[in-house]
Amino acid sequence: MCLPADKFDCMKLNSALQINGTLQLPGDKSISHRAALIAALASGSSEISNFSTARDCASTVACLRELGISIEQTQNKLTFAGGEKLVAPRRPLDCGNSGSTLRILTGVLAGHELTAELIGDESLSSRPMRRIIEPLELMGAKIESTDGKAPLNVHGSGKLTPISYKLPVASAQVKSAILFAGLNATGRTTVIETSLSRDHTERLFNGFGVPVKTHDDLSVTLDGPARLSGGAITIPGDVSSAAYFVAAAMLLPGSELTIERVGLNPTRAAFLDVLKSWGAEISVKDVQSERNEPFGTIHVRGGTNRTAGESERTLSGTLIPALIDELPLLAVVGSQIDGGIQIRDARELRLKESDRLATTAMNLRAMGVEVEEFEDGLAVSGSRRLRGTLVDSHADHRIAMAFSVAALLADGETQIDGSECVAISFPEFYALLDSLAVR
Ligand code: S3P
Repeated sequence: MCLPADKFDCMKLNSALQINGTLQLPGDKSISHRAALIAALASGSSEISNFSTARDCASTVACLRELGISIEQTQNKLTFAGGEKLVAPRRPLDCGNSGSTLRILTGVLAGHELTAELIGDESLSSRPMRRIIEPLELMGAKIESTDGKAPLNVHGSGKLTPISYKLPVASAQVKSAILFAGLNATGRTTVIETSLSRDHTERLFNGFGVPVKTHDDLSVTLDGPARLSGGAITIPGDVSSAAYFVAAAMLLPGSELTIERVGLNPTRAAFLDVLKSWGAEISVKDVQSERNEPFGTIHVRGGTNRTAGESERTLSGTLIPALIDELPLLAVVGSQIDGGIQIRDARELRLKESDRLATTAMNLRAMGVEVEEFEDGLAVSGSRRLRGTLVDSHADHRIAMAFSVAALLADGETQIDGSECVAISFPEFYALLDSLAVR
């Protein structure tokens, strides 16, 4: 059984036989952040259905309310009046644990004639912000920081200068911050990527009336000033949340799992192809699209095939941005693949909610897996029998959930210390896992 320990903050999990069921998931976290920001800036009213239940997205909504935007919420539906002006907040804008809130909202504020302070929790306050400060200052905003970290004091300008900016790291948050600022710049803003990061901002800007062009050379352009128009959107289910159940079902023979209306944006769903190349039986059907975001039904059948060629067992290069949030989970799955797996070119993982290379390696070792840690990746030995133990989530939601999947395969009980952090992206995770797991 999946039972909370004395403190809910330390979940106790045992192995499972199968993951069975059909489900739909709360809205995608990345798309929800952007949809809320777009609705806040748009000229007409908007209705966002299946808005994410993630604590991170609640941070975005709370910040927008502090900025004077009226938002009505009934369950997972948000209604925005539209046509409102952002006003200077009276309190610091609390972004909690959410890098997307802090980075993308700073891009929004850069283009408004007001001053705002943005703060975050301990983890967010230790993450690098120069990556947004540099381009936004080039555009004409002024941003004070504490040694390149939050708290940030943003002094926006109503007249930004457009830039052509090559991203030093593949980051959708940085790309999005620049594109949101570009809405208030006079002329063409260009962002050039070295490898394609998630493209929700581009798709949604196009879906809400502001043309954004993506060119073959990985450059994205927007002509400002431009005003978004409001409208209705139903957010597809969060594919990164789906990943935990897909992986669990793949690894438990006999499982039959169907996830409906889940996001299938190729810059996010690349883990499905990786799992298929490692022997998973996964099919996708009923693909449709909502404001340019594809979604559909994923079916997984659990099996015993865990073989893959050497090249499929190395994840590296331009593939990494499309797998970025799934890499801890893929490392867990990799421990079950014949010959093991390698992850390279993923040093960005050290700058997430925890140092995910270190926290993944440490917890895999605690469960009996040999792991070599590189500055930019991991080599995980394969076909390991996992041993239940105490796992330290380091208050990182993706680590807690990846190792909860590991717990389903492990001998004996696994305790996930700090498990409450799953609410950052997926508050329903343990309740759903409990309802899907056959023991
Ligand atoms: C996100 C982008 C990624 C990702 C994060 C969400 C987004 O971060 O890891 O969970 O919504 O744009 P980076 O932009 O730092 O790569």
